Amino acid sequence: MNNRREFLKASLVVSAGVLAANIPVFAKDETSFPKGIVYTEENSGKWAGKSGGHLPQISIKGNQVTIKTKHGMSKRHYIVRHTLVTEDGQVLGAKTFSPTDKEATSVFKIDGKHSVLYATSFCNKHDLWIAKFSV
Ligand SMILES: [Fe+2]
Repeated sequence: MNNRREFLKASLVVSAGVLAANIPVFAKDETSFPKGIVYTEENSGKWAGKSGGHLPQISIKGNQVTIKTKHGMSKRHYIVRHTLVTEDGQVLGAKTFSPTDKEATSVFKIDGKHSVLYATSFCNKHDLWIAKFSV
């Protein structure tokens, strides 16, 4: 009976070690975003060649961040939403667009310096795009 218990204990320890080794750790590097879910300038995946019209463009003036996606806006194909998010996931701002909007531009006021911020832009046909920047 003791041998069986020792065997089970050892098996659990080994299993836990194998599981721990295989659990992905979320890194804050844009190259670690899940492929096929999030697209970046470096990883446009199945949307190769479409980053120019989908990657959020950032401009900063004082404490104001402007996000623009150079994408057409039509009933069938448009930018749905922008967000501005800190490195630890705090959403500093969000704007939802309508297909009747002339362009996908959003303006957010921020406080202080941020070494890492993420701007997201979601297209109804070409998924979620993210640009990383600092202020
Ligand atoms: Fe698109």
